[in-house]
Amino acid sequence: MEPGMRGKSVLLIIGGGIAAYKSLELIRLLRAREVTVRAILTKAGGEFVTPLSVAALTGTPVYQDLFSLTDEVQMGHIELSRAADLVVVAPATADLMGKLAAGIANDLASTALLATDKKILMAPAMNVRMWESPSVRRSAETLAKDGVLFVGPNDGEMACGEFGPGRMAEPLEIVAAIEKSLAARGGALKGLKALVTAGPTQEPLDPVRFLANRSSGKQGYAIARALAGAGADTVLVSGPVEIAPPSDVKLLKVTTAREMLAACEAELPADIAVMSAAVADWRPDRMANSTIKKDGEKKSPAITLVENPDILAALSRHKNRPRLVIGFAAETDNVVSNAVAKRSRKGADWIIANDVSTKENGESVMGGDRNQVHLVTATGSERWPDMSKTDVAHRLVQHIIQQFQSEKI
Ligand code: CTP
Repeated sequence: MEPGMRGKSVLLIIGGGIAAYKSLELIRLLRAREVTVRAILTKAGGEFVTPLSVAALTGTPVYQDLFSLTDEVQMGHIELSRAADLVVVAPATADLMGKLAAGIANDLASTALLATDKKILMAPAMNVRMWESPSVRRSAETLAKDGVLFVGPNDGEMACGEFGPGRMAEPLEIVAAIEKSLAARGGALKGLKALVTAGPTQEPLDPVRFLANRSSGKQGYAIARALAGAGADTVLVSGPVEIAPPSDVKLLKVTTAREMLAACEAELPADIAVMSAAVADWRPDRMANSTIKKDGEKKSPAITLVENPDILAALSRHKNRPRLVIGFAAETDNVVSNAVAKRSRKGADWIIANDVSTKENGESVMGGDRNQVHLVTATGSERWPDMSKTDVAHRLVQHIIQQFQSEKI
């Protein structure tokens, strides 16, 4: 079951019910399958499980308040509901079901449910009389008609002592339902081939020395994973990095810029190219066959550099040009204007521009887990909030899907 879920992301809304404790196990099972989980804990949910246990298990902050400035700065409620591949409500209470069925949005959970453009899967849990009440029946019917998916409730003895339908589905059943809903949605890029470059290149000076940069490859690997997750046939051409390769992509390991270009060209035609590698712009004009020695008699050796091929520009102008070519722009100042110029200079469709200058807190984008980028297209630019590299990847893939669906290319 695992490979289909790996790299996906779920927004879990935990409603108020005794079954909320099972949601902790659900988070653990999802994380073990490499699914990113963000959680919204309703006020009532917070009476059954603590924000601390939810945060510890998801590894991300818990979102609780519609009007929280800190939450909104980290990730706005609209973004929160759209960055996920699937929204899961467990336990889904009569209250949450009723609000969504009626279009009521008066807290973070109900607002996120109304604002999402993703599938919603609900795992109801409530007293059997409540579940059978005409009003909850109406909500369930309306929601099903609107395309909301359900798992459970199961028959069984309930915490309140009664017997009948109302018990929340078991965590493993919910995981299976999540996998099924993700697989049904996962094919948005099916039939398309994506080519991604990642990491640094190394340009040898002699058999043991090279010129390189600090690129970790994290952003490019996350993009390859997200593209494969959306069903694209994905090839990742990677410079030397220390990351485990995603299992469902074809990995081609290279060392130099020229090898990276040759590997990319050999993979054409492709539909999508995302060039996120930090390719060395220059290489030593020649590689010494044996190690360059210190020699007391002579001056320090001079290194002459020659320019490397520009892989992004080469693919943009290739006779087999991919339908959508996306480049990155690592900038330290005038981020957007430099990216706009880079976009036309290199012939790319989109540029993801990021500020790679070291922040005041000493953190650098290179090697870090977070990224704050701007998407620059032919029609303008949009600033994305600071988010994890995985979230940047998912958001980019959503844009790619929309672009192919609207056939604007
Ligand atoms: N790129 C490439 N081949 C190169 C250099 C860069 O494919 N030889 C790609 C990168 O993968 C990225 C984009 O071009 O998608 C921009 O990279 P960046 O380093 O920001 O641009 P440079 O061309 O190096 O421009 P400069 O350093 O002058 O800003």
